[in-house]
Order: sequence, then C-alpha cells, then structure tokens
Amino acid sequence: MQTVNSLNTLKQAVEDLRQSGRIALVPTMGALHEGHLALVRRARELADHVVVSIFVNPTQFGPNEDLGRYPRRLAADEALLEAEGAALIWAPQAAEMYPQGFATSVEVGGVSEGYCGAARPGHFAGVATVVLKLFNQVQPDFAVFGEKDWQQLAVIRRMAQDLNLTSPCVENIVGAPIVREEDGLALSSRNAYLSAAERRVAGRLNGLMRQAIAQIEGGGEVSAVLADLDTALLAAGFASVDYAALADAESLAPLAALTGSPARLLVAARIGGTRLIDNMPVGSN
Ligand code: PAJ
Repeated sequence: MQTVNSLNTLKQAVEDLRQSGRIALVPTMGALHEGHLALVRRARELADHVVVSIFVNPTQFGPNEDLGRYPRRLAADEALLEAEGAALIWAPQAAEMYPQGFATSVEVGGVSEGYCGAARPGHFAGVATVVLKLFNQVQPDFAVFGEKDWQQLAVIRRMAQDLNLTSPCVENIVGAPIVREEDGLALSSRNAYLSAAERRVAGRLNGLMRQAIAQIEGGGEVSAVLADLDTALLAAGFASVDYAALADAESLAPLAALTGSPARLLVAARIGGTRLIDNMPVGSN
C-alpha cells in the first residue's frame, strides 16, 4: 500500500494499478472507523484494487462548522487501510485540490435542496465538486459511499446521471449499509466530540427513530408521528432537531403518507455543538 499526496504521483500510481485490474474508489475525510472500513470491504468485492481518498474538504464546511477541529489521524488511518488490503491512499493537501484561481463549483439541484442542504448552505456544492474532482483524478470503475449520508449518495448519483459521468457511471456508484454501535448509534467521526453524557443521549436517537417508524408502519398519521419524534428527541436531551422527515427514498420528496414506493425516515439533531444524522427505511421496501 502506498500513500500519495501529489497529483503527478497519483496519476502514475493509478495507471500502474489499472494495468492489473479494475479500481474502486472510497472517498473519505479520514478519522476512519468501522463504517468506512465496511466501504473498503465492499469496494474489494467490486474491484481488484481499492483507492481510498482522505481529504478534509474545506469547501463543504460552513463558516461556523467544525473544519478546524475535525479529527485528522493519517498514520492510524494508514494502518487500518493497510490491514484491509487497500492498494492506495490519495491524501492531497488543500492547495493541491484548490490551487490559486480555482473558481468552479458543481451545483446539484432538487435532491440537494432540503434537509442537510437547507441546514448547511453550500455543503452539497462543496461535496459534489470535490467528489467530481476525485472521480476525475482517480477515474475509478466503481465508487462506494455509505447510506449513512443518504442525501449525499442521492446528490452524487444525480450528478453522475446528469453529467453523463463514466468513471464511474451512475450504476457503479454503490451504496453500503450503515454500520452502527450496539445501541444503534451510527458510527461517525463526529461521535468523538461527544462527552460521556452526550454519548448516552446520542444512543437514544436510533431507538426513537425505530419507534416512529413502527408508528408510521402501523398507520399513524405521519405529521403527528414526526412531531412526536421531534418532542421525544428534545426530551431525551437533544438541543435541537434540524429536521425529522419522511421522504421518498430516491427523489427525497417529503411524504405526508406512505405511498408503496421506498420511503426513508431522515433525521438530523444536535447535542451541544455536535450534529448527528441518521436515516432508516420505512415500510416493506
Ligand atoms: P466521511 O464523513 O469521512 O464519510 C466517508 C464515507 O463513509 C461516506 O460515504 C459516508 O457515508 C460513509 N460512512 C460514514 N459513516 C458510516 C457508517 N456508520 N456506516 C456506513 N458508512 C458510513 O462523506 C464524506 O466523508 C465526505 O462528504 C466525502 C464524500 C468524502 C466528500 O468530501
């Protein structure tokens, strides 16, 4: 396994790998945990070589967000990825990704607009732009993303479809299931920010979501169930709820009732300064 941090070395390394098979890319911001490693394992099933990018992308953080304190642990990440059999780590500096004069941004409409897009203006343009750059730099046959960031996956698929991407094509943008702690909390690099007391509160999120899903599946009125979920999250100790919504799983259009098409419960809530997101399927789909 090799770690590269200049575009020239990346190009050479990727060309070498391509000689002996197909490449799957796993984009990350590092501080890797089992959720990321599950993506690497999925990527290994799909392709001969796995490239993992580690880049804390400044353009997807808002001015008052956690860019400065986002965990950075390249040496530990390298050890984990070596053990998983990754072939290459692409760990550029910000100046390599955004040299002086950089002026382009990819704006994905529709699926970017609600939920995290509304709560974090500019976030998905930052994500789409960096992911398109990573796709162009590595030109992978496959890319693997976690369902943890359900809206992000929808945004990237929309971009791939709308811009006729071929490396990878939209069909080869693969979603992998959410990896959770025992109490249901989705693994996240941001969980490291939680104090012990906050961690206990965070552990309530998934159970309360499951309860709301059972109510919706049992015929409960969606807006009433979502309002109750909001109240229950605040009562459990969350400081605020950015959104708790039932959405069409693909278009992300808000749903007032189940329709028979796949649906998803999407939640973002804050504890202290930490923002947690989660999502789960609703209905039989
Ligand atoms: P990051 O938050 O590091 O996540 C990298 C990938 O890991 C994403 O596809 C995310 O959905 C997935 N992931 C995180 N936690 C997971 C979990 N518990 N289970 C399954 N998958 C999980 O998402 C980003 O970075 C960035 O926005 C990026 C796409 C790299 C662009 O900068």
